[in-house]
Amino acid sequence: MKIGKKWLATLALTVGVGLLVSACGAGGQQASGGGSGAAAGDSKVYVVGTDAAYPPFEKMEADKITGFDIEVVQAVADAAGFKIEVKNTGWDPLFDGIDKGNVDLGISAVTITDERKQKYDFSDPYFEANQLILLPEGTSVTKLADLKGKKIGVQSATTGEQVVKKAFGDTYEGIKGYDDTPSAVDDFFVGRVDAVVADNAVLQDYAKKMKDRKFKLIKDDSFEVEHYGIIVKKGNADLLNKINQGMKTIKENGKLKEINDKYFGQ
Ligand code: ARG
Repeated sequence: MKIGKKWLATLALTVGVGLLVSACGAGGQQASGGGSGAAAGDSKVYVVGTDAAYPPFEKMEADKITGFDIEVVQAVADAAGFKIEVKNTGWDPLFDGIDKGNVDLGISAVTITDERKQKYDFSDPYFEANQLILLPEGTSVTKLADLKGKKIGVQSATTGEQVVKKAFGDTYEGIKGYDDTPSAVDDFFVGRVDAVVADNAVLQDYAKKMKDRKFKLIKDDSFEVEHYGIIVKKGNADLLNKINQGMKTIKENGKLKEINDKYFGQ
């Protein structure tokens, strides 16, 4: 993995926040109050990892991690009666953290894939997505295959990278992998890559925010429906059951829809 400046800044921030949190004990900024769910007696604070550079799902707002996913995981925890503390781990370290056990669960717009299911356990799905291609406004490109030979930016180890590799081969030279999606989008706008492939809601969020910039979003026929899930270490049935119980509750009582409407209504 390439270590960029942004990444170092994120790491510094994570370490900083980590110190702050430990300085004020278990009740970190993101820790939930007592849940009302069945297991309200659970005193463990579960560490949630996320790559907080993926608005509107997760982002840093001053020193706070906010976004759709953060509200979902908090609602799940509240409904199931467990406490959480959210950490901005970054993308690759999120998975490493789960492997090593210093992150208990991950929420980061993580698509449930067969490959990942071999290594991690996923909660029931909470969001539907698909890939999109970010292109210059006047482009003649109408499908992914038209980008053959062009430079395509993706966040490394994401489903965006997967679809590009599937189309052009694992060793395609035009693929440029980034540690986070904003870096790929930034490079697109300065012309270092010809296109970016990433999740629809994230690229649409850029589109909303950058009204002055001219670009186009297209969907290729090969892009399949994806579903986001919360990940835990394989075999952590105890935590997974709690998460799924909370997820079921917030689907049934309208809380998930309420969060969805707040971020994606209209
Ligand atoms: N949904 C895609 C995947 O699972 C991209 C997720 C990237 N998430 C993030 N927070 N950077 O591969």
